Parts: sequence; structure tokens; C-alpha cells
Amino acid sequence: MEQAFRHKISIAPMIDITYEHFRVFFRLLTKNCVLYTEMIHENAINLSRVLKPFPLVLDYSQVEHPVVCQLGGNDPEKLAKAAQIAEQAGFDEINLNVGCPSERVQDGAFGACLMKEPHLVAQCMKKMKEAVKIPCTLKCRLGVDNLDSYEFVRNFVEIVYKEGEVNHFIMHARKAFLKGLNPHENRTVPPLKYDWVYQLKKEFPEIKFTLNGGIKCTEHIDQVLPNVDGIMIGRSAHENPWMFSDFDRLYYGGENQNYNRKEILEQYAEFVEEKRATGCKVSTQMCVKPIINLFNGESNNKRYRQFLSNTDNHKLGFRGMINQVIEHMHEWNQEALLVRPNDYKF
Ligand SMILES: Cc1cc2nc3c(=O)[nH]c(=O)nc-3n(C[C@H](O)[C@H](O)[C@H](O)COP(=O)(O)O)c2cc1C
Repeated sequence: MEQAFRHKISIAPMIDITYEHFRVFFRLLTKNCVLYTEMIHENAINLSRVLKPFPLVLDYSQVEHPVVCQLGGNDPEKLAKAAQIAEQAGFDEINLNVGCPSERVQDGAFGACLMKEPHLVAQCMKKMKEAVKIPCTLKCRLGVDNLDSYEFVRNFVEIVYKEGEVNHFIMHARKAFLKGLNPHENRTVPPLKYDWVYQLKKEFPEIKFTLNGGIKCTEHIDQVLPNVDGIMIGRSAHENPWMFSDFDRLYYGGENQNYNRKEILEQYAEFVEEKRATGCKVSTQMCVKPIINLFNGESNNKRYRQFLSNTDNHKLGFRGMINQVIEHMHEWNQEALLVRPNDYKF
């Protein structure tokens, strides 16, 4: 069988969600889906004083591969330097964020506002590509403010492809408003235009296009995937992680990890404890966040969530708390706790 494009399914970079704990948890669900870090500004890498030997912000676990480091910034030389450090740290790929519309990011003149400067974006990408051997890709929107025609995004892609030699674009398939909408609204209000991404793929068949935005379930993936090279999923990965436990079989022609939810919780707790033993200060709340939706859609999901959210239970220690919630789940919904992905009716 022809090897699947490794980005066939990827999990979107999300600040305060796709930190190391989330990514390690996700690897218990799928070996193949590509994982992304949260966006890391190049300054946080280049100016880091905590080196062990790499900046703390680049901490990741070996199990996470393939894992992409997403950078933010607008200075070609500095981005190239940060990309080099991320490559040395062992990341598989570098991605530049040209899609974030938050005010803080606009104040720094990076993220989505860079869509107005395709030649600068191309320069950033070119410098990064020259500095590293691993692939460098770009995540962007379809436009910003009144620069929102198909011709605009087509021109943007053409310039960044030709001058920046970028051959893989991740398209969040909606425009961004730089003024008037907050980041949350900017992920819901501007309409999704999948057709534009399909059209880009037709016009530039030699470029890989990953489509992102609003994908929620396998039926939806199956509709969209024939038109593009890959699908990136953000919020639904956090909201419904169990769905991904069947993806190695479905989308990579391989075998699922096939861990049941009890084994996933136990292995995740082991990771959290090991990490803590090395001095990791991630709060219990942050350790709980990746697993909070593991029983989404199952009966007694609410009781599971309430147990893990109750700070009194955090006093049990992470492993102790997980042992107890597993005991409760035997009573509350043993079937969901023990069923393996291969036997589950998705
Ligand atoms: C909480 C949150 C944080 C995000 N942080 C980033 C980020 O760091 N970098 C980025 O490129 N996009 C970020 N995004 C946008 C997502 O990567 C994605 O483009 C967007 O959520 C649309 O995909 P979805 O509909 O599948 O969620 C973030 C989204 C959310 C919900």
C-alpha cells in the first residue's frame, strides 16, 4: 500500500491545550496523527535562560514523534535561529503561525496580520528553510479584514510558494478580522469556505494543502479529505479525544494502539508522576485538562468530570486520584472504561 501522507490527520496547535501533557496523552490514542506544540514566539526560544540543554518551552517527550514545533514571529533571521534550536532539540518539523488574530499577537506584528505581507512571510520561510533540514510549513487564514477575495489568498499562496519555497500550507478555511472580533469569535463568526481550499489545491496540485476549521467527526473528514491532502482538527480533538483511538486503522492503514480507557488513564498517570519526579511544576488542573473529555458522550461522563475537577480530590496526588476515578468508573460505566477501540461502535 502507498504510504499515507503523514499529515493526513493532524491535531491543531492550541495555546493552553496542546502542551506536552496533552500530546503525550494523545499518543496513547494514536501513533500516527501529527501533533503540534502551542505557538512559541521565537523570543521565548532565542532569549531563554533556562537551558537543559534546550529552552524549557521546547520540552517534549520522545513518544510524541511526529511532532511539529509552531513558531510565532516576523523577523527572518531570528525565526531561522529559533528553527535551528528546535531542530537540534529534535522536532520533526517547523511551522510558522500566520493565522492568530489576537490583539497581543497583532501588537507584536506577527500571526494573522502577516497575511498582508506575503513577501516578508516568504522571506521568513526561506531563511528558516535554509537554516534547517527538517520541513518548514505555514499555517494561515484565507484573508484578513477587507483583503478577503479568493484572488488575495491565491496570490498570497503563490508568492509564499515561489519566493519562500513552501510546499505545504495549512489553511484555516476562514478569514480573520483584526479589529472587532476576539480570538474566540474569530474561530466561529467568519464563515468557513472549504471550496476556496479545494480550488487552491486544483490550481497548485504540486503543493500539499491541509484543511482546518470546523471538522468534528469521521463522516465529515471522509467528505473533505478527497479534496485536499490532509485534515487538521483543533477543538474537537480536545472535546472528543476517544474518537482518535480508531484513526491509525481508519486513516493510516495500520493497527490501532487499542488501549482501553483504563489503560490510557493508568499510563497517563505514570507519565504525570514521572514528569513530576523531574521537578515539573505543571498544576494538577493542567494535568487533568487533557483527559477531562475522555468519556465524552458516555453515560456518567458528568460524574467523571466532576470527580476530576473537584480540587479536594487533587489532594489525593495525581496517581491516587486516577486510581479512585478508575474505581468509580467500574461502578459508573464499566463498559466504557474497558472497551477497546477495535470493539467500540464509533
Ligand atoms: C484555545 C485555542 C488556542 C489556539 N491556539 C493556536 C495556536 O497557538 N496556533 C495556531 O496556529 N492556532 C491556534 N488556534 C487555532 C486552531 O489551531 C485552529 O486553527 C482553530 O481552532 C480552527 O480549527 P477547529 O475548528 O478544528 O478548532 C487555537 C484555537 C483554540 C481553540
